[in-house]
Amino acid sequence: MKLFDVYPLYDIELVKAQGSRVWDKQGQEYVDLYGGHAVISIGHSHPYYVAKMTEQMSRIGFYSNSIIISGQEELAEKVGRVSGYADYTLFLTNSGAESNENALKLASFHTGRKKVVAFTKAFHGRTAGAVAVTDNPSIVAPINSTEHVTFLPFNQVEGLIEGITEEHAAVIVEGIQGVGGIQVASDAFLQALRERCDATGAQLILDSVQCGYGRSGQFFSHQFAGIHPDIMTTAKGMGNGFPMGGVLIAPHIKASYGLLGTTFGGNHLACVAGNAVLDVIEQENLIQNAAKTGEYLMQHLQGISGVKEVRGRGLMIGIELEEAVGPIRDALLFKEHIFCGYAGKHTLRLLPSLAMDKALADRFLTSLQTVLSK
Ligand SMILES: Cc1ncc(COP(=O)(O)O)c(C=O)c1O
Repeated sequence: MKLFDVYPLYDIELVKAQGSRVWDKQGQEYVDLYGGHAVISIGHSHPYYVAKMTEQMSRIGFYSNSIIISGQEELAEKVGRVSGYADYTLFLTNSGAESNENALKLASFHTGRKKVVAFTKAFHGRTAGAVAVTDNPSIVAPINSTEHVTFLPFNQVEGLIEGITEEHAAVIVEGIQGVGGIQVASDAFLQALRERCDATGAQLILDSVQCGYGRSGQFFSHQFAGIHPDIMTTAKGMGNGFPMGGVLIAPHIKASYGLLGTTFGGNHLACVAGNAVLDVIEQENLIQNAAKTGEYLMQHLQGISGVKEVRGRGLMIGIELEEAVGPIRDALLFKEHIFCGYAGKHTLRLLPSLAMDKALADRFLTSLQTVLSK
């Protein structure tokens, strides 16, 4: 059997990883400033994480949500404390799309309404509801296309009063658009969304799958705007590579048996991964480090010839180039041995481990200058 061919691949096979470095099977070392789409938060193969996972694996890896898994409560307590949302509740899932799917469902259950407002260039995942609120017709199958979703212009306050009404169950927005090109939602925009949701009863969902979990220099990027969403979704960095996600739910949204469910979400190994990630984030002050290293990088990127604009917060950085991003990304990978991502035709996307230090930042700045000057 062959694989269903949906991914264009680089001819690279990685066999080892440590911190912000990875090695291919020929022994070539690379710097990883992308973390496989923002997944590696505390660094590859962190010794504390590996020890915890290995120890758990040898005891019990999985049982379903029909028995007590004390790691779930431990994780909820930690997420609440580190994020500043101790009064919210946590539902554990397996991915970002599944988190958004459940967030939309909860908003609809809670309000009894069907309609949702999303924004231009949004990306929320590929499952039915998540892809319906994603602004990319090429990945929306006819079965997922629905009249319940309206797209309003991202970061535009005008029009929100007419656009969000008592008919809407939810408004879903990324605190920083990732796939959409690292576009930061302005404080004024998020505050206006909060206000309009309060006025209409629509539930405000902050998709924090890419921009959350400390990446922005705050636990959640919307915390810069001082707002409290009704629902937040997470995944990616939450498990540092172990597939897991979460939905943080405000106290006014009530749970009942059977309302949501999942076979794998919150299993023993996922909880150990999630707890280890938060332990390391706290012990190594990684949120503060993301803020500091991100600021250093953004400051120095501004001055590089060929860089048109630098966007983002913390270690979620979009570098808009004057030239097309494809050849620059390839030169960084194959000549400088640095993994980066991209968004659109001109934007280089950095989503490194939150432990990235100044020395690695300097290495990247020098390499980018080299490839842009050729
Ligand atoms: C903002 C955002 N939401 C949701 C998702 C979907 O997450 P997953 O691929 O884990 O389903 C992504 C993935 O890139 C994302 O960036």
